[in-house]
This record gives sequence, structure tokens and C-alpha cells, in this order.
Amino acid sequence: MHDIELETALRDFALGGLRFFEIVGSTNDEALAWAASGAHDASLVVADAQSNGRGRDGRKWTSQPGAGLAFSLILRPTQAERELVGRFAGLASLALVDSLARRGLAAEVKWPNDVLIGRRKSAGVLVEAVWTGAEVESLVIGMGVNVAPGSLPPAAELSFPATCVETELGGPVPRYALLRELLTSLLELRAGLTSDAFLARWEQALAFRGEQVQIWQGRDRQGEFSGQAFMAELIGLEHDGSLRVRLGSGETRRVHFGEVRLRPAAGQ
Ligand code: ATP
Ligand code: BTN
Repeated sequence: MHDIELETALRDFALGGLRFFEIVGSTNDEALAWAASGAHDASLVVADAQSNGRGRDGRKWTSQPGAGLAFSLILRPTQAERELVGRFAGLASLALVDSLARRGLAAEVKWPNDVLIGRRKSAGVLVEAVWTGAEVESLVIGMGVNVAPGSLPPAAELSFPATCVETELGGPVPRYALLRELLTSLLELRAGLTSDAFLARWEQALAFRGEQVQIWQGRDRQGEFSGQAFMAELIGLEHDGSLRVRLGSGETRRVHFGEVRLRPAAGQ
């Protein structure tokens, strides 16, 4: 490893392994390859910048040098965790919400995979898996966090308003100190991942709860959302981490992770 700031921040932190890149295509790709070749639980890939950072369905995630966090954590789930893999995106989002709260900053989870501060996107999570047959062998939790203003892409590239931690806190934040705090929260929260208490905390952190939202499901071949959105009240979470909403008719509906985009209803 050749980043003194990162080395100092993670000194004595119990990781399965650590790989650092000044620039890499995507930390998730590096982590998936490492996981497939036997990385230990809690192995971490960190990059100062990514040239091909991605969000869901291959959409672009911008990470600029010196400005934000781009990392992927490899976890080898237990049997109980394997049955609730849908909770891992919540685990990463909630860990950031908790570590920002410790710095006095309120943040919320925009289900399924974003963290909002003041209703602007400050971080995104991309969970991917290495399978052995039908079984998840490893999970890669990729996370991009906008720390300094330089981490934001140009406004024209945004599909949702964005912000960064420093702007919202009104002062400098050492990004690798934040990484350590985030990983500490994540591994603490992981101990209770399968509990009802975890689900309750995740639910409490949800943005737009009790509000009307627009939901798109299904994408075309370009990965763009097509078809009509439906409006519903965001109620909470199901046991597996999928979203529960209430339609105008009063009927409740479960929205599964993966092929979904969520927005506040117009005018909010
Ligand atoms: P969203 O509700 O954010 O549009 P999505 O599911 O449509 O979510 P994701 O795959 O979650 O899209 O995120 C990728 C999107 O995030 C990109 O299309 C881009 O608009 C936005 N984005 C890319 N880099 C950043 C960044 N550093 N900060 C904030 N937003 C970003
Ligand atoms: C999203 O909002 O769509 C999720 C973005 C996830 C970005 C992170 S940055 C580190 C890791 N490497 C990637 O290529 N993507 C994730």
C-alpha cells in the first residue's frame, strides 16, 4: 500500500486484507476477482480514483482523485446472512448514516442504494456477489461517498441532485478517517444484520417514509427505465429488505430491489 493517509487511518483495523490503487477501473471488479480467488472475509479494496466506476445496471459513478471515497468490502456471508442478502445494501447505507450522525450530520437512506443528505445524493452502494452454483460465496459491497466538492460530477450527468459531506458539514473532513468510522459502524451493524432491530433501524433511516413517491420498474435494453411510474405511499421494509408501499386503492405492494427507481412525488 502506498497511501500514507490511508495507512495511518486504518492502522490496527482488523481487515482480512487491503489493496490500494491510485487509479483503477472499478474497485468492485478488483474485489470480485479477489473474492473469486479466495480473499478473506473483510478484505478491502480502496482507490483514490476510478476510471470506470459503476452504479446499478452499469450506469456511471464518478470518482475523482483526492476528493471522495471509492471502496469495495468483501464479505463471506454466514448461512443466516445468505438468506438475507437483500439487507447488505442497507447495511452499507446505514453504516454511513450512523457515522455521519456521529459527526452531527443527519442523513437518510434512499431505498434501495443511495444515501441522501438534505435530500441530495451523497453516496451510492453497489452490492455484487460471487456465486458457487446456487449459493452466494462472497459479497462485494461497493460504496462511493462524495466527501469534498470535487467528487461531484457535472450537473448535466446527474439523474438526481447531489451533494458532498464537506459542503453539508461546512468544513473539511479527512476522507480516510471517515472510511474507518464507516467500516467500524458497518462491522458493528453486521453483527445484528439478521435481527428485527436491524430492520427497524434501517426503516427509521428511510427517506420519504409516509410520503408519496414515484416508482419505476423494469428497464429497456439500454438499462433506462421505461414505462409508466406508479405513485404510492412509502410505508417501510419487508423482512428481506424489499420495500413496502401503499397504492391509492389502499392495497399494499412489495417492491423488489434491482429493477427499480424511486423519486419523491412531484412538488415535494
Ligand atoms: P438515482 O435514483 O440516483 O438516479 P439510479 O438507480 O437511477 O439512482 P444508480 O445506478 O443508483 O442510478 O446511480 C448511478 C447514477 O448516479 C448515475 O446515473 C448518475 O446520475 C449519478 N452519479 C454518478 N456519480 C455520482 C456522484 N459522484 N455523486 C452523485 N451522483 C452520482
Ligand atoms: C449507485 O448509486 O448507483 C451506486 C454507486 C456505487 C459506486 C461505488 S464506488 C466503489 C465501487 N466501485 C464501483 O465501480 N462502484 C462502487
